[in-house]
Amino acid sequence: TSGPMVDTFGRAVRDLRVSVTDRCNLRCTYCMPAEGLDWLARDKVLTAAEIVRAVSIGVRHLGVEAVRFTGGEPLLRKDLPEIIEAVAALDPRPEIALTTNGLGLRHQAARLAEAGLNRVNVSLDTVDAARFAAITRRDRLPDVLAGLDAAAAAGLLPVKVNAVLDTEHGLDDAAALLRMCLDRGYELRIIEQMPLDAEHHWSRTTMITADQILERLQREFDLQPDSAPRGAAPAQRWTVAGYLGADGGPARVGVIASVTRPFCGDCDRTRLTADGQLRNCLFATNETNLADLLKSTSSSDEEIALRWRESTWGKLPGHGVNEPGFLQPSRPMSAIGG
Ligand code: GTP
Ligand code: 5AD
Ligand code: SF4
Repeated sequence: TSGPMVDTFGRAVRDLRVSVTDRCNLRCTYCMPAEGLDWLARDKVLTAAEIVRAVSIGVRHLGVEAVRFTGGEPLLRKDLPEIIEAVAALDPRPEIALTTNGLGLRHQAARLAEAGLNRVNVSLDTVDAARFAAITRRDRLPDVLAGLDAAAAAGLLPVKVNAVLDTEHGLDDAAALLRMCLDRGYELRIIEQMPLDAEHHWSRTTMITADQILERLQREFDLQPDSAPRGAAPAQRWTVAGYLGADGGPARVGVIASVTRPFCGDCDRTRLTADGQLRNCLFATNETNLADLLKSTSSSDEEIALRWRESTWGKLPGHGVNEPGFLQPSRPMSAIGG
C-alpha cells in the first residue's frame, strides 16, 4: 500500500489541500451571505492530531509532495503553527503552503515561517478601500496590505495574490491591483469565478472570462506568454515587460481560467475537508469519509491509505462545468476548501 496514488485516467496525486476550518472573518459577496453560513459544529472539525495523521499518511504512503492549508480562513485556527510544525517534521518533508485572506498575517507570518511554512497565496480582489469594503463587507484593506508585507518580510516567497473578478467593476480593479503587485514583487493571478458560491448566484453569462481579463491588462501592460513549463499549475502565466519579480527574474502575472480553459487533464490534487471528508475534485458530487478512521484508535495507516486510494479511483476526468446537466456541488467553496 505505498507508492503514488494514481486515478483511472493515469493522473498521479501529489498535491493535498487541507481545509482546517469552514469559518471566515470576511463575507465576500461572491462567496457567502452577509450573515455567514451554518458553520460546522466544533466537534465535527478535525483536531490538529487528526489532520497531522492524515497528512502523514498522504506523505509516507501515497506520494503526496505538497500540502496546502486552506479554509474558510485557515488563520482562524489557533493551532495552525503546531500543525505546520508537525507536518514540516515529516519524512519526506512536503512543501507547505497556505491560502489565506491575509487578515491575520501581519501578526502570524513570522511565527508560521518559523514553524516551517514555505509560502502563501493571499486573496485580494482590489486595492481600492471602498471597493474592498463593498466586496468583503468588512473595511480591512490596510490589514491585508500589512499582511502581504509581513509575509514577504518573513521570507514566505514567492508571495502570490489571488483575485476573483466578480463583476465588470473587477476589470477596472485589475490593472491597479497588478501595478501594486509589480511594485511590491508579488505574483498576481486573476481567477475566473467558478460555480461554487453558497447562494448559487454564479452565471456563465456574467462571469468575467480570461479573454476579457487579458484584453484589459494588455491595454496597460506589455504581456508575453511565459515560456516556463506550466506542469499541473492552474495558472497560465505571462511575463510583464519592464518589471522584475522578487527573484530578480522577469515579473509575471497569471490567469486561472478554470471555466473557459479547464486544466483538469493535468490535475494532481486531492482534498480533505475540515470535517474529515476526502474529495477527489472541487466539483465532486460525493465524498469519502476519512473522519471515522482518523478518529478511531484501532484503524491502521494502511486502512486509511486504502480508503484514500479508493477515493482517487473514483475521480472523474473533469469538472463538467461546461457540460449539459452540470449540477453545482452541494457544499460551497468555503466549506470544501479553496
Ligand atoms: P500554487 O501552487 O501557488 O499555484 O497554488 P494554487 O493556485 O493551486 O492554489 P490557490 O489556493 O492559490 O488557488 C488559486 C485558485 O485556483 C483558487 O481560487 C481556485 O479558483 C483555483 N483552484 C484551486 N484548486 C482548484 C482545483 O482543484 N480545481 C480548479 N478547477 N480550480 C482550482
Ligand atoms: N471561484 C473561484 N475562486 C473562488 N474563490 C472563492 N470563491 C471562488 C469561486 N467561486 C477564491 C478566493 C481565494 C481562493 C481560496 O478561492 O478568492 O483566492
Ligand atoms: Fe472568506 Fe475566502 Fe469566502 Fe472571502 S472568499 S468570504 S475570504 S472564504
